[in-house]
Amino acid sequence: MTQADNYNEIIEGATAMFVPSTKHLNGPMARSEPVFYNPAMRGNRDISVLFERVIAEDGWNILDGLAASGAKGLRLYEEGKHDCEIVINDHSPKAFELILKNTEHWDRGDRVIPSNHGLHGLLPEKKYNWVDIDPFGSPVDFLDGSIRAVKSRGILSITATDTAPLCGTYPTTCIRRYGSRPLHKGTMHDTGLRILVGNTIKRAAVFDVAAIPILSYFSGHYFRCYFRMKRGAKPADALLKQFGFIIWSKDGGYTTVPWPEKGAIHGGPLWLGSLNDQDLLGDMVRESEDPDMSISTDSINLLRDLKAEIPSPSYIYMTDEIASKCKVHPPNTKLFVKSLKDKGFQASTVHYDTKGIRTDADWATIRELAKLMHK
Ligand SMILES: C[S@@+](CC[C@H](N)C(=O)[O-])C[C@H]1O[C@@H](n2cnc3c(N)ncnc32)[C@H](O)[C@@H]1O
Repeated sequence: MTQADNYNEIIEGATAMFVPSTKHLNGPMARSEPVFYNPAMRGNRDISVLFERVIAEDGWNILDGLAASGAKGLRLYEEGKHDCEIVINDHSPKAFELILKNTEHWDRGDRVIPSNHGLHGLLPEKKYNWVDIDPFGSPVDFLDGSIRAVKSRGILSITATDTAPLCGTYPTTCIRRYGSRPLHKGTMHDTGLRILVGNTIKRAAVFDVAAIPILSYFSGHYFRCYFRMKRGAKPADALLKQFGFIIWSKDGGYTTVPWPEKGAIHGGPLWLGSLNDQDLLGDMVRESEDPDMSISTDSINLLRDLKAEIPSPSYIYMTDEIASKCKVHPPNTKLFVKSLKDKGFQASTVHYDTKGIRTDADWATIRELAKLMHK
């Protein structure tokens, strides 16, 4: 690492870049920094690079709409596989200065286009094959403009770091922002992801666009979702049929219903359909294992775990939640999953928490098994 001005020169992935010389270890970062760069978001950028390599095509134009230092756009350009034009945009003059420095110092050529515009003004000017939105907090402010700026069959990717509303610490904020009630129980991160995905699908449907979720995950302190955008009222309507509510019963079990009964403890309306395209995940896992790639082990593991996760039902059980309801020690997650499978149920671990289990087994079976394993 070398230092110039107020910047450190680093290599993230396989891309050299200058970043602000502030000390930061992990988790969310203050937005008061003159230019934002969070090393803890490396995984977000790793996976964007893999996504580019598997999904993008030569000739695409990509908008890194809220770019800060430009880290993501620069990595897409350097580590992506395709000949794409990448607009790296931020409204902050300081961020733009750094984006320019990061472009000119390495003479990155005319396929990288630094841009210093407010995103709301920039989006209506042009259509892109891929728009990436990586805001402070919630992406809702930028959703409508971004949806309209993506070409048909193109990609919209969004990050959300407003985990507290989405997971139910601030339910009123979640309802106001996403039009959906969160559920502050063990399944809250899965529910938060489905609220975020569902809200994007609903916003896109307003414009007769189907936002088809193809890659969605939670990691540490943020949610991340990628959508294939398809024009047409019919495909948009087909997605809207896959919404419903999640119910938590006081004895500890979850179910999903089209509409909650009066008095039911519920979250929603939220997306109950598939969050990930299994073929895409397979391709990305293979790509991440290429020895020529510089993808972090954490990102490779996240993709492998996501690939191993069963797609439904639309909730998960936490082993400590099972333990407290059954008055037993928390069961071993992998052993519990194996026992459920031995009984003929579908079951898997969950990509974001080693204590999570996704299974189609009913709550009575889960309780019985937890008590049996405790003996
Ligand atoms: C979380 S940071 C982006 C991080 C970046 N994608 C990365 O990987 O390091 C959000 C950025 O959005 C920029 N921003 C906020 N509102 C904006 C707007 N309306 N138009 C353009 N940029 C904006 C901020 O200046 C900030 O640099």
